[in-house]
Amino acid sequence: MKNKIIILDTTLRDGEQALKASLKVKEKLKIAISLEKMGVDVIESGFPISSPGDFKSIQKISQVIKNSKICSLARCLEKDIDVAAEAMSSSDLFRIHLFLGTSDIHVKSKLKKNFEEIIEMTVSSIKRALRYTDDIEFSCEDAGRTSLDNLCKIVEKAIHAGAKTINIPDTVGYAIPNKFGKIIKVLKNKVYNIDKAVISVHCHNDLGMAVANSISAIQAGARQIEGTINGLGERAGNAALEEIIMAIKLHEKSLNVYTTIKHKEIYKTSQIVSRICNIAIPINKAIVGSNAFSHSSGIHQDGVLKNKKNYEIIDPKVIGLKTVRLNLTSRSGRAAVKFYMKEMGYHESNYNIDQLYSKFLKLADERGQVFDYDLEALAFSDKIKEKISYYKLEYFSMKKKIEGSTVVKIKLSFKKKKHTFTMKTNDSLIETIYLLLKKLTNYHFLMKEIQLNVEKNNKKEIKKINIRANYNNRSFYGIGVTEDIIESIVQAMVNVINNIRRYKKIKNI
Ligand code: KIV
Ligand code: ZN
Repeated sequence: MKNKIIILDTTLRDGEQALKASLKVKEKLKIAISLEKMGVDVIESGFPISSPGDFKSIQKISQVIKNSKICSLARCLEKDIDVAAEAMSSSDLFRIHLFLGTSDIHVKSKLKKNFEEIIEMTVSSIKRALRYTDDIEFSCEDAGRTSLDNLCKIVEKAIHAGAKTINIPDTVGYAIPNKFGKIIKVLKNKVYNIDKAVISVHCHNDLGMAVANSISAIQAGARQIEGTINGLGERAGNAALEEIIMAIKLHEKSLNVYTTIKHKEIYKTSQIVSRICNIAIPINKAIVGSNAFSHSSGIHQDGVLKNKKNYEIIDPKVIGLKTVRLNLTSRSGRAAVKFYMKEMGYHESNYNIDQLYSKFLKLADERGQVFDYDLEALAFSDKIKEKISYYKLEYFSMKKKIEGSTVVKIKLSFKKKKHTFTMKTNDSLIETIYLLLKKLTNYHFLMKEIQLNVEKNNKKEIKKINIRANYNNRSFYGIGVTEDIIESIVQAMVNVINNIRRYKKIKNI
């Protein structure tokens, strides 16, 4: 029979602790709600003694979340334990997560104690935590560098004192998979009462092995995995839960384990965490990166269009993504061009594929990436010129007034007429420009993504802005490149507007 792997998410504790600015109560709650929706078994919601803000967040999360177990971190100190219990008191079933350094280096140089004292502290704090709940997790901090003898000793004592979960963290990300798996095997073989507790692992990613070490631990008998969404966490981060969950799903049979995660929620949760924590997801990040399901080479694109399984191990729909993405670049073949034309509702008899493909290659060489609406324009270029700019940015300025507000002035030319718009604002400049341009054009597009890249060029700093916006259920892109960030944003937005305008002309709408 397959064994269930308990998923403990620590995005709100280990993940948050690594952010430049701590999250507000509302933000933490939003993340907790999406973790609950995703079916996470245990949500480690914070370290309540660390700050009043963290305490409040945990209180709020404990009031709202009912389908995932709430857990809070505490050192092996009475006040930490009491405060953790108080913060979670509105939750029916909560877990207190105690931790204490067990490696020689932590015991001697951080805690300035001997190992016997560490065992005493462990046992007495587990007993204190049992006053509040019988769900106690004990973490042997820096277990990855703890001698196996000491590890076995303390684990046995912690279980005997009443800990139900024993967590083996590779706190500094030092371990490699076969050695880490071996630690779990030794615990299973040598600790006489190990069957009375769930073995958990918590791996950091300093050597890029956090996910591999977690899987190795599962193979050796670990039944709880700790990690974070998008791999956020101290230094190089924690094990990325979305990667472990999908590895388990794909290898369920050979690992003989399963999770009760709702996989369809993975992508959305990852986006929510990235947005709230203000940490962009690298494009090549496994499972949730924007390139994770997009294909670039012509051979791959052709293969995927014939049968997705040729180059895809995961159906993107499983994690809540709609479909495969083919990047339209000069490496793309005709198959990709035809695919997008069909997606936009054009039959092959509506256009000449040979002509379209050669125009496409020329544009792709010039521009790098081409989008679906560009294909549409190229296919019907007797009707419309690809490079036409309908709206042209003539002038842009912003002046800060003494009392604090900013005056934004934009001059656009459209159909040979010049239009000047001025707005005084105390709000975000980007928001103001966005509203001004929407007002001018009456195109109610929705900004979905803004990306900034700064490049040095002859001592100048060039700010390149990429925007993705939605209009009529289609994506439109815009690029702005100047030395000034705001001006690049305006350029990119005007670029989006021109692409929408061109699309509307072609569609006659
Ligand atoms: O990495 C670590 O050891 C931790 C513990 C508190 C579990 O985060
Ligand atoms: Zn950690």
